[in-house]
Amino acid sequence: MADIKRVFLIVLDSLGIGAAPDAEVFGDVPDCNTLRRISTDPAFRADTVRRLGMGEIEGVEWLGKGAALKTVGMRLREKSRGKDTTTGHWELAGIVSEHPMPTYPDGFPEEVLSKFRAATGRGVLCNKPYSGTEVIRDYGKQHLETGDLIVYTSADSVFQIAAHEDIVPVEQLYEYCRMAREILQGEHGVGRVIARPFTGEYPNFTRTANRRDFSLTPPAPTMLDAIKDAGMDVIGVGKISDIFAGQGITRSLHTHSNTEGMEVTAGLAKEDFHGLCFVNLVDFDMAYGHRNDISGYAKAFAEFDAWLATFLPLLGEDDALIITADHGCDPGDTSTDHTREYVPCMMYGEKLRYAKNGGTRPTFADVAAHVCDMLGVAYACEGKIDRALPELSEGRLLDIAKLGMSVAYTPYSGYKVGAALLDESGQIWRGCNVENASYGATICAERTAFMHWAQSGAAMRGQKPLAIAVVGGKDGVITDFAPPCGICRQVMMEFCDPDTFRILLTNGKEVRSYTLSQLLPLGFGPSKLD
Ligand code: THU
Repeated sequence: MADIKRVFLIVLDSLGIGAAPDAEVFGDVPDCNTLRRISTDPAFRADTVRRLGMGEIEGVEWLGKGAALKTVGMRLREKSRGKDTTTGHWELAGIVSEHPMPTYPDGFPEEVLSKFRAATGRGVLCNKPYSGTEVIRDYGKQHLETGDLIVYTSADSVFQIAAHEDIVPVEQLYEYCRMAREILQGEHGVGRVIARPFTGEYPNFTRTANRRDFSLTPPAPTMLDAIKDAGMDVIGVGKISDIFAGQGITRSLHTHSNTEGMEVTAGLAKEDFHGLCFVNLVDFDMAYGHRNDISGYAKAFAEFDAWLATFLPLLGEDDALIITADHGCDPGDTSTDHTREYVPCMMYGEKLRYAKNGGTRPTFADVAAHVCDMLGVAYACEGKIDRALPELSEGRLLDIAKLGMSVAYTPYSGYKVGAALLDESGQIWRGCNVENASYGATICAERTAFMHWAQSGAAMRGQKPLAIAVVGGKDGVITDFAPPCGICRQVMMEFCDPDTFRILLTNGKEVRSYTLSQLLPLGFGPSKLD
């Protein structure tokens, strides 16, 4: 497809849309459904996402239709063995994790803690799974007295370090996290080491916004690396850069709330960049999902929905928007942990040519496949794209060829030819003959169309041409068929499947359709050189 200049990929952290088939394996009830749960609150609003076709996604029909915009919707299932932020984002970016990240329901083993104590020169308190707010209430006083660090975990693969900002300055805490990150590799490669600074006085401690995540480096190149290596921008907003340990990011904008994340994203939409803007809105998960705050989650979603209505007009015809999520966190279930859910994926953009409703897809990596396809970046992953089947009739392709004929440059022969080439992305590339005073330098309409197509990057990506319509006649009047010359047939042989590629011709009265094999039997093509 290519031709998209800016892709905005927004992850609504934890906005699941219903239990995945394997939810119970992950300890979740079969009716967990984050979106459905928050929709029960009176503050819930979904007007803009409805316009973006959210209610057309499988399993979200209850939201109601309202897709006034041309969108593509699909439901994505997570393939990786995990339901955490890192695993979810990595899969969205193309990496499927076969092994779950290690968790520590009984705390971290002594081999880890002894290295950590030696590196930081401080003792360790707690070392258990704990709620973040309770851990500072229960261990904060002892921490203030001894300077020991509060180390705790959760059901997720995390090593969290809480410290009072007056005892351990934030930068120092980040340094301790980096030390922990170095220790926690391989068998103990937790998804994230998290700095959890707090302030206040006993017993009224509060966590500050200086939380910082130190993620494991992705085990293989992600779509971010591919986009960056193609010389484009990869802008991370919120904790994106942390999740990818900075890999493949060209610019990072840290934010402290959904509101700030949305503001920064709108600001970027007013900037001129080429590539990907990857946004994570974390409040849904951190502030509401984990706290089982249905009403807060619903309000935050309504705020996002209202913001989205103001964001859409900032997008131009070369832009695309993708809205998705990384896992669920049903605020109405009994646990405060993530839930193994399907996530929504809505894609919007003038130029997108994908199947309108992609149904349910087996991996989040479909997002990576689509992003790279939009930007024209080569990246191999398990994700797939589902192109819209060309809805064009032969008549329309011939009409576009006639348009080509009307702009032919033919001062010498006066024989005007037009061509229209259709490829599997559904796009059509026009061509006309361009003559030259040195006659041999003349270029035919079919080849002009093919070069037009190739220069978009389609040839490099191996995108398949499906059909070409060719019309021609003296002074632009069609009286007979205008079959492609030998050189043009050879150019077709280079890029097309000779048995399926169609050549449409008309004499003004009837239309004839030939395969390339018919017009160039026993053709010499690239496969001969294999
Ligand atoms: N021409 C085409 O554009 N396509 C063909 O396959 C055959 C020939 C053009 C080239 C030239 O400008 C004019 O027709 C007369 O040869």
